[in-house]
Amino acid sequence: MSPERRHLTLQSPDETASLAQRIAPVLRPGDTILLSGGIGAGKTHFARALIQKRLAVPEDVPSPTFTLVQTYETGTGEIWHADLYRLDGPHSIDELGLTEAFDTAICLVEWPDRLGDLAPEQALFVAFESGPVDEARSLEFTWTDPRWTSRIEGIMS
Ligand SMILES: Nc1ncnc2c1ncn2[C@@H]1O[C@H](COP(=O)(O)OP(=O)(O)OP(=O)(O)O)[C@@H](O)[C@H]1O
Ligand SMILES: [Mg+2]
Repeated sequence: MSPERRHLTLQSPDETASLAQRIAPVLRPGDTILLSGGIGAGKTHFARALIQKRLAVPEDVPSPTFTLVQTYETGTGEIWHADLYRLDGPHSIDELGLTEAFDTAICLVEWPDRLGDLAPEQALFVAFESGPVDEARSLEFTWTDPRWTSRIEGIMS
């Protein structure tokens, strides 16, 4: 199946957070969002706003830079937030429990290129690019699983 693609430009951190807050309520356990883009592109900013929107009780959402994975219990299942930048090799993905979490939790993964073949086919891929001005971010959404089509169209309309 050929991938679907949508493009969006965000002018500020608040616009990125607001988009993440619109996506948060349509996610279900078994959904994965792969967040790619360079250092400082806005992946954690997006993930933090999304997670906070789903938390019943507010809590801090630190970057998983060193822990690799942070998990959150919500009334509607677990959210896993991963940053795989410092991952040592493909074995660790299984050791972290991510392979199983892809089926049972909502997963948000930064630096998803580290997953190699283990990236779930059902995932929504979001690529962040900085510019042309300081606070602007260009986002490209790509997916093949039809579960995303109406959801993404609803969010963008
Ligand atoms: N439109 C925007 N969307 C998101 N973040 C923005 C935007 N404009 C500026 N920023 C700033 O860019 C920074 C993004 O940092 P963030 O930690 O989210 O990056 P990251 O992609 O997770 O990087 P890393 O790969 O190091 O984890 C924040 O300081 C944020 O305020
Ligand atoms: Mg980050």
